[in-house]
Amino acid sequence: MAALDTDEVIRLEGVWKIFGERGAEVITALQQRQLTASEVYMEYDCHIGVADCSFDVRRGEIFCVMGLSGSGKSTVVRHLNRLIEPTAGSIHVFGRDLLALKPKELRRLRAHEIGMVFQHMALLPHLTVRDNVILPLAIRGEAQARSWQVARDCLALVNLSGHEERYPAQLSGGMQQRVGLARALASDPSLLLMDEPFSALDPLIRRQLQQEFKDIAAQLQKTTVFITHDLAEAVNIGDRIAMMKSGRIVQIGTPDEIINHPADDYVREFVAGAEK
Ligand SMILES: Nc1ncnc2c1ncn2[C@@H]1O[C@H](COP(=O)(O)OP(=O)(O)O)[C@@H](O)[C@H]1O
Ligand SMILES: [Mg+2]
Repeated sequence: MAALDTDEVIRLEGVWKIFGERGAEVITALQQRQLTASEVYMEYDCHIGVADCSFDVRRGEIFCVMGLSGSGKSTVVRHLNRLIEPTAGSIHVFGRDLLALKPKELRRLRAHEIGMVFQHMALLPHLTVRDNVILPLAIRGEAQARSWQVARDCLALVNLSGHEERYPAQLSGGMQQRVGLARALASDPSLLLMDEPFSALDPLIRRQLQQEFKDIAAQLQKTTVFITHDLAEAVNIGDRIAMMKSGRIVQIGTPDEIINHPADDYVREFVAGAEK
């Protein structure tokens, strides 16, 4: 494929996140000697959230970040729109150095180019489905007629046409997540960050939403970073999967590579669990 570089949406290089006031000292110490997570805690009162993570995400792909609870998935992904600043390392998004962006540029990036979906979408209970979806547009002062059209289009994409006037409490969990996805799509971002969006849903609904999401992402050509702790979900949805363990990425590969060539026992156990 030609010009792979221009297809790069995200590039993380050597990203560390040390939680605690002495994070910078921990990085310096780690350059000089090996330290375990518990030594970092005992000596510096710091926690290692992310350890030396590097990966790239290409245009149009669904890149899954997968690992046990506490392995650092959310921390990694929160770096991608700079909700969290790394203690060390570099992050490029759309070819731009994220850490060098001025506040105004960062606000623009978040409002226009990146959409987020979380496990609990925190829809505003007193707003209708439509008003929840157009919230990002209302904030940026979009005209109502245009916003309503966007809401209709986005709700149609997530199969919620006709539910515009309902309130979140009147919807099932699956429908609420669809509204959350519609809201993330409303500003037509080219990058979606999804942190366990389907993890609280029943298996059947979950499979259905996975399939629908794959179709939407392909149709709209959205680049997606998708977090899950469920290997079956990662395999179903991901073009590539990064396996995380204790803040580190232990393997990056296609679903096929992860299943057939697990890099270590940690990955192997996930694969065995997913086959059951
Ligand atoms: N603000 C914070 N302060 C201290 N430790 C944190 C903070 N946020 C996350 N951590 C720690 O970082 C590690 C990774 O957390 P997280 O990224 O939430 O994992 P995951 O999303 O994979 O469940 C955990 O050990 C967690 O306790
Ligand atoms: Mg998490």
